[in-house]
Amino acid sequence: MSEKIENLLKEDRKFKPSDVLSSNANATNEWFEKANKDRLDFWKEQALNRITWFKEPTEVLDDSNPPFFKWFKDGELNLSYNCLDRHLETDSDRVAFYWEGEPGDTQVITYRDLYERVCKLSNALKKLNVKKGDRVAIYLGMTPEIVVSMLACARIGAVHSVVFGGFSSEALADRINDAEAKLVITADGAWRRGEIVPLKANVDGSLKLTNYIENVIVVKRTQHEINMEFGRDHWYHELTENEEAVCKPEIMNAEDMLYILYTSGTTAKPKGIVHTQAGYLTGVATTHYEVFDIKENDIYWCAADCGWVTGHSYIVYGPLSNKTTSVMYEGAPNAPDEKRLWSIIEKYKVNIFYTAPTAIRAFMKWGIEHPQAHDLSSLRLLGTVGEPINPEAWVWYHKYIGGEKCAIVDTWWQTETGSIMISPLPGVTSTKPGSACGALPGIESLIIDNEGNPVGKGEGGFLAIKSPWPSMLRTVYGDDQRYIDTYWSQHEGLYFAGDGAKYDEEGYIWLLGRVDDVMNVSGHRISTAEVESALVSHEKVAEAAVIGRKDEITGEAIAAFVSLIGTEKGDENLIKELRQHVSDKIGPIAKPKSIVITPDLPKTRSGKIMRRLLKDISEERKLGDVTTLANADIVSELQNRATQTDDE
Ligand code: PRX
Repeated sequence: MSEKIENLLKEDRKFKPSDVLSSNANATNEWFEKANKDRLDFWKEQALNRITWFKEPTEVLDDSNPPFFKWFKDGELNLSYNCLDRHLETDSDRVAFYWEGEPGDTQVITYRDLYERVCKLSNALKKLNVKKGDRVAIYLGMTPEIVVSMLACARIGAVHSVVFGGFSSEALADRINDAEAKLVITADGAWRRGEIVPLKANVDGSLKLTNYIENVIVVKRTQHEINMEFGRDHWYHELTENEEAVCKPEIMNAEDMLYILYTSGTTAKPKGIVHTQAGYLTGVATTHYEVFDIKENDIYWCAADCGWVTGHSYIVYGPLSNKTTSVMYEGAPNAPDEKRLWSIIEKYKVNIFYTAPTAIRAFMKWGIEHPQAHDLSSLRLLGTVGEPINPEAWVWYHKYIGGEKCAIVDTWWQTETGSIMISPLPGVTSTKPGSACGALPGIESLIIDNEGNPVGKGEGGFLAIKSPWPSMLRTVYGDDQRYIDTYWSQHEGLYFAGDGAKYDEEGYIWLLGRVDDVMNVSGHRISTAEVESALVSHEKVAEAAVIGRKDEITGEAIAAFVSLIGTEKGDENLIKELRQHVSDKIGPIAKPKSIVITPDLPKTRSGKIMRRLLKDISEERKLGDVTTLANADIVSELQNRATQTDDE
């Protein structure tokens, strides 16, 4: 970590908010003052102002049974109502989404259209026996139906579990089984860089591994031939076309479950992160308003996928509850060419654009001629999320996308936190390239050392959150103990984020990446244990060790070291087979970039695999003393092999 810290400390550029931005900003310094004075009162005010309640809550926080906190616990509301119905009286013709399909087809969806689509699907779900509290899996590409499906679940009180379309049949089945989902909404396929992602075929594969699913709803998108099983599989358009475009929203308690979203932890089994209703909406609506400084007529574009939490919070619930007009794009940023995103910004005159550092690094590699071919002058604010942004990428983003006039918000948060926690406030905070700056109003972050003591300016340690916040996860689905162990057991009363962080001399926060065995590949969280367990499930693999090694574009890349059973010999074909095997088990996002086959893995005398050493070898660092290893000879052999491996 120290090398990183030194690099970051060399970064001393500072960007002050412009006068125009400051004088019109939604959130001012007063927000901090209010929250510092009375944090609970601050959140109460946000909850009452931003949510239309069926029954207003009388209590803000119930902290009688930590870490099982409850927010606004006697309040009643419906999130679909808050995202749709309440806007209709004055704004039914306002555009909710300008949707852009990868092949070039488009849809303009008003709040009225979205409301009607959601009601129709809600009615159809009810007819398929989906009831309040039931879990529904959603496995779709980025078509409007993914938003409609999430909101339809929220409307009838069903719990959605969106599974990213890049996950395999097996990963989908694991998530269906864990949540005991009774219905899955999918599509024939999704478009990705001109190719079809075979969503329905993947669902068919997963249904061989689960008995919970009673019905499958299939959106027609790619129009290719698929298998439809009579009685179980239903076309979305047939199911919804004759439904009524009205459906009464279910009255939900503030603490009823809204969704489960699976994320990687330090073991092979993904965790189902549970979010509930009112606190979550308070968090996402507030942060969407303050961090993106959203204005009545803005065109806003969060270029994430609804399969991840960023899509949940900043494509669906935050923006829609704030009556925002969004752009939504189905496909890859380089389909049909590297100008695609910039042409969309020009076409819709996008004002606010939110993406990941890994995407920015890819844009840098593709060249400035692509953004320069389009008029990006409508942009006012840029955001990043998902991983630390290196100062070079920040400055490039500022110069070539933002035209040196846009504020940049580097937003730190997690699936678990539900909404943004650490970020500059545009108009208030002077930003430094590469720093997420500081905690938002109402959030109390701190950095602690090994003993749990807070560190001061100029020092580093582990990022923690001191007090509960409304949009926090409530538990790990079906596993309260894992919730306690993972997040609340490192230091009494502190939420442990699993990230390293550091304060600079001015108290700005710099995120330094994960401190556990979780990799961050293109902003996607993947656990080393998950990939290792996929590798050892291959018949020829005896043992596997996986690490994340530095990568110029994707932040980290997955590097695997594998030893084979008995006298098995590895060759290029086996390496290909193993990469495919991981892809089949988890999904293409988890394919190792390199696999080194080795007779043995470096181990301590007590038999522990030395992952840190493998990381040093992969990143071609000078190694320290390795003579204490049980099998020191293997190191030089591995050094040779690791540098010879050819990435695909
Ligand atoms: O390591 C941090 C990194 O992403 C992790 C959370 O991943 P996930 O739950 O998939 O959510 C990603 C989108 C919110 C964090 O533990 N991370 C996220 N944002 C940043 C970041 N690291 C540095 N800077 C950020 N802005």
